[in-house]
Amino acid sequence: MAEFPAFPKDFLWGASTSAYQIEGGAEADGRAPGIWDSFCRLKGRVDNGDSGDVACDHYHRMPEDVALMASLGLQAYRFSVSWPRVLPRGRGGVNEAGLDFYDRLIDRLLESGIEPWLCLYHWDLPQALHDLGGWSSRDCAGWYADYAALCAKRYGDRVKRWITFNEFSVFTLFGYAIPWAAPGIVDRTQHLRAIHHVNLAHGAGVEVLRDLVPGASIGAIHNRQVVIPETDTAENRAAAALLDEHWNLVFCDPQILGHYPPQTAAAIEPFVQAGDMARIARPVDWFGLNHYGPIFAKTDPTRVWGYGWGDAPPDSPTHGVGWAIFPDAFRDELLTIHNRYRLPIVVTENGCGGSDVVSPDGAVHDPHRINYLTIYNAAMRDAMRQGADVRGYFVWSLLDNFEWGSGYGQRFGVVHVDFQTLARTSKDSARWYADLIRAAKA
Ligand code: FCB
Repeated sequence: MAEFPAFPKDFLWGASTSAYQIEGGAEADGRAPGIWDSFCRLKGRVDNGDSGDVACDHYHRMPEDVALMASLGLQAYRFSVSWPRVLPRGRGGVNEAGLDFYDRLIDRLLESGIEPWLCLYHWDLPQALHDLGGWSSRDCAGWYADYAALCAKRYGDRVKRWITFNEFSVFTLFGYAIPWAAPGIVDRTQHLRAIHHVNLAHGAGVEVLRDLVPGASIGAIHNRQVVIPETDTAENRAAAALLDEHWNLVFCDPQILGHYPPQTAAAIEPFVQAGDMARIARPVDWFGLNHYGPIFAKTDPTRVWGYGWGDAPPDSPTHGVGWAIFPDAFRDELLTIHNRYRLPIVVTENGCGGSDVVSPDGAVHDPHRINYLTIYNAAMRDAMRQGADVRGYFVWSLLDNFEWGSGYGQRFGVVHVDFQTLARTSKDSARWYADLIRAAKA
């Protein structure tokens, strides 16, 4: 067995997925379209014209997938509920068959000794609600609260770990300002409105979960990455500062510190009503961090906010999908979060993409992923030694899956999925991760 850093015995090890990326069964048992079903049908938005219609067909293969999790020794599994599966019209008209699916999943996890971590929103708003204004509409916070209450009442007897949203800034920025995600709108005002309404929905979700789930442990998942100017010019520095607000601060700060960061505070004021900031800042129990690598920003006048994505320095190490590998930035991010927000941290996503293939020997050799996970876990351990209160780690992802705008071209799983046959094959990294968990518990 490889050498692994020693972790506290009560440190939690898990894996993450999301509904639209793995479930498939797009029309099964009464599910209706969400905004990603519609986005995938727009020409040129998703590589290769891919969609989540079938994905990993987890909707029909769930027992096999839970068995895989158990074989890895996972202690926890983070999944998301598909809002359009349980409420096809977004509000009213509950779909019992959809709710049943998550009952079966939760029961199977618990029977297998795996703790369910339920995320209410991983980007798949029901299309019917988008047609009524979606996140640009203040009403969306109320629709979300009703959906959260439905899930809390149904699953709260068995699920104690609740997540209001996954990666607020990715789906609001890419959904409303830079059109890389559903619904693909480019409009500053709608972006600002979406930020505020999603924050209100988060606060409403926390309130509902506290009221309805005794003993709930509630968190939200933030993607946080240091934003570095691509080159050190005044324009790039200004671009990086605004992107830093939109990417790293406009959700964490109001939710935990009770205020918007300076540039956004002024711009968002027209949409803020009396009492909103207190509603948004209802206390949570932990901070969920998704982190992959730093962002390089540059000025880009063709983009709605004047900033764009730049390139990492030419000599930087990158992983298979071109993202920079900077474990020190991960360590520093954990320490920054610890110092700024003073909450226990759970790393809810970290992982490495590539184009892994099944070798003639029947195995999937992914040394690049093992290398990435090794150095990122060591960086996390360093941050813990320096004081960051990190309680758990979830690898992204259990399975290769539908990677949003990149379709099936980017594989992040520790388990390979053949998207023709849907066969699952554990990669070398799955064995590595199982060994890491075993060593951490020994
Ligand atoms: C994150 C998303 C997740 C997955 C990984 C690679 O931004 O939360 O769904 O796409 O990136």
